[in-house]
Amino acid sequence: AMTNELKGKVNYTTKGNIAILEVDNPPVNPLSSGVRAGLSEYISKANEDDSIEGIILTGAGRSFIAGADISEFGQKPDGPDLHTALREIEFSKKPVLAAINGTALGGGLETALVCNYRMGTNKAIVGLPEVNLGLLPGAGGTQRLPRLIGPSQALKMMLSGTPISAKKALQQGVIDAISENSLIDDAIMFLQEKIGQSEHPKVRDKNEKLIEARGADNVLAEARALASKTRRGQFAPGQIIACVEAAINEDDFDVGMKKESEYFLECLINPQREAMIHIFFGERAASKISDIPKETPLHPIQKAGVVGSGTMGGGIAMNFANSGIPVLVLDQDEKNLERGMGVIDKNYQMMVERGRMTQEQKDIVMGLISPTLSYEDLADVDIVVEAVYENLELKQEIFRSLDEATNENAILASNTSGLDIDAIASVTNRPEKVVGTHFFSPANIMRLLEVVRGQESSDETMATVMSIGKRMKKASVVSLNAPGFIGNRMLYGYTYQANMLLLEGALPNQIDNALESFGMSMGPFRMMDLVGLDLGWRARKLGNIETPLTNKIADALCEQDRFGQKNSKGFYNYSEGSRAPNPAPENEDIYKEISDNNNIARREISDQEIIDRCILALVNEGAQILEEGVAQRSGDMDIVYINGYGFPIWRGGPMFYANQQGLDKVIEKMNNFSKLDEEFWKPAPLLQKLADESSVFGEAPTQNERATKLSFKKTNIGGV
Ligand code: 3HC
Repeated sequence: AMTNELKGKVNYTTKGNIAILEVDNPPVNPLSSGVRAGLSEYISKANEDDSIEGIILTGAGRSFIAGADISEFGQKPDGPDLHTALREIEFSKKPVLAAINGTALGGGLETALVCNYRMGTNKAIVGLPEVNLGLLPGAGGTQRLPRLIGPSQALKMMLSGTPISAKKALQQGVIDAISENSLIDDAIMFLQEKIGQSEHPKVRDKNEKLIEARGADNVLAEARALASKTRRGQFAPGQIIACVEAAINEDDFDVGMKKESEYFLECLINPQREAMIHIFFGERAASKISDIPKETPLHPIQKAGVVGSGTMGGGIAMNFANSGIPVLVLDQDEKNLERGMGVIDKNYQMMVERGRMTQEQKDIVMGLISPTLSYEDLADVDIVVEAVYENLELKQEIFRSLDEATNENAILASNTSGLDIDAIASVTNRPEKVVGTHFFSPANIMRLLEVVRGQESSDETMATVMSIGKRMKKASVVSLNAPGFIGNRMLYGYTYQANMLLLEGALPNQIDNALESFGMSMGPFRMMDLVGLDLGWRARKLGNIETPLTNKIADALCEQDRFGQKNSKGFYNYSEGSRAPNPAPENEDIYKEISDNNNIARREISDQEIIDRCILALVNEGAQILEEGVAQRSGDMDIVYINGYGFPIWRGGPMFYANQQGLDKVIEKMNNFSKLDEEFWKPAPLLQKLADESSVFGEAPTQNERATKLSFKKTNIGGV
């Protein structure tokens, strides 16, 4: 084997008759090679030392153990394997207690499960999030957790991937005790009481809860229903369920373990695993700005303001409150403000009713949100997000007022999906403090946040807004100030192709089904029905704007009073009180007529063509965005598409998907389509170049390497 240096270590100390093993692999203590080696070595050492009677396993810093080292997957790992290390802990002659000082996730919780006892601080968090990486808990989690808390609860935890608090973990029986004071002192006390016992419990020996579930298929059926609802198209959930099925039905623990290993390996070699790990690291990479030093000081944020109390403003205010930041919501219309506050209250109430938060938690967040009618009240806020409707003059007027009313250090952000941030910044005396924050609706739920970097936005402003995004638990991505930013600019070509396919002979139902079977959460026509077809139609009427070819069908539907879901008919028909789309055959004459009128021959179109044309439209525009440096790296666009536009996470985003297909294959397909539309299917120069070099999308080219220079006005993307 190569003699690479092992990563991470375990510290060994003793306190009287207790040995303390402290995992030390900053920042979050994953089980890297050096940690696995250290665990093996020191468990043996403690067992061989006659003065030691009990062992405590804990973590240095804020984590217990964050799981396996994710960067090792797909590599050849050094050092001992995890199973060997865990077996040594499980069969330690002396009792082992896991003192869970912080997050115990994935392999971290699995490590705790081979210990005889588990104690957490009240801040501890435990979970098995492997499913989010396209994996299953492969270090015994699928066999031990069901033994400990029952298969039903265990499946919920493994299929959702969502960790639980110490309090909940104690209730469910994942941990035996919570320490309210010094964890290590409490752990020692706990262990001293157990030392005299001849036997110490092992999770592997607990079979009651599994035997109970034998023969009752509802546990597995419910899990399958949950997986198909929340994780459509994913490979790992079925594997997890199969592991638990084995745990329930196999008498021999080790047979179950063997199955888990087999199923884990299948996940490991499945392409979904690579795609989802790309997204794990991609999200963390996206939060960093290449040319801004890590040490850039942040502007402290203690209080925020939001201008506008509509759907967007309200959602943004909720984000601040949820992250513990007091926020003032300003609206100059008293009625609007009252209505807006009412909507916020209702949204939280719904969460209480659904068990997503307690009444007490609701009171706390509501207490952080205060309405105001006056700009003067914003004098001491550290950041304001303006969230009124998209109108440059209106936004400029608001920014003038904000510039006057707020402290000169306050950051002024505009929530816009497409306006020129520099034009907004230019009316203030602090353009370096102005930035765009493009939240997605509903802003309190959607994870995507596009942070728009103006010409003059300072490093401090950018770094601060990115850190607020992190506090809000958003997937934040930086975009330069260019029309449509990243997401909507890519969407343009996608929607354009969907509309062309409709004109060329495919029906909305076929197009939507094809894209949903690819994994998109909602097809484009169902989406348009949801948003409302009348918005564009009305705007065109008002502005006396000629309908572009691709909107002709939607406008014709509006002429027949078909506006979408809002009035139960659009591209689809909806029965009363239902959002389920039913095909609308009565529309087909309209489609034919418009195709005919525009000399487009309708033809049979394959599902594959639908998928290729819509998805490759995203890819080609993405290549252009990367070439211009509007996005910093191709992974950023993957994060945007997955978190804001319903792209399947298990395909790793559109750019990763293109890399996986091979860029030469992408070009080949585009060349085929260019018979239909030469202009549209011209490959972006960067795509062509990378394909010629047999390379893949990655970092954006540097200024010097760039063929095209960016300016807000130059880039024209049509309808957005
Ligand atoms: N392996 C390798 N690196 C990891 C890691 C892991 N398990 N977990 C986190 N990191 C890295 C991150 O990439 C990041 O690196 P960077 O600073 O270079 O960007 C750094 O540690 C800090 O991570 P975060 O920015 O995410 O820190 P937070 O404080 O926001 O969150 C956390 C901490 C909640 C632990 C979060 O990092 C997390 O969720 N980690 C992943 C947990 C996980 O999925 N574990 C399961 C792994 S798979 C497994 O265990 C298989 C087993 O069953 C066999």
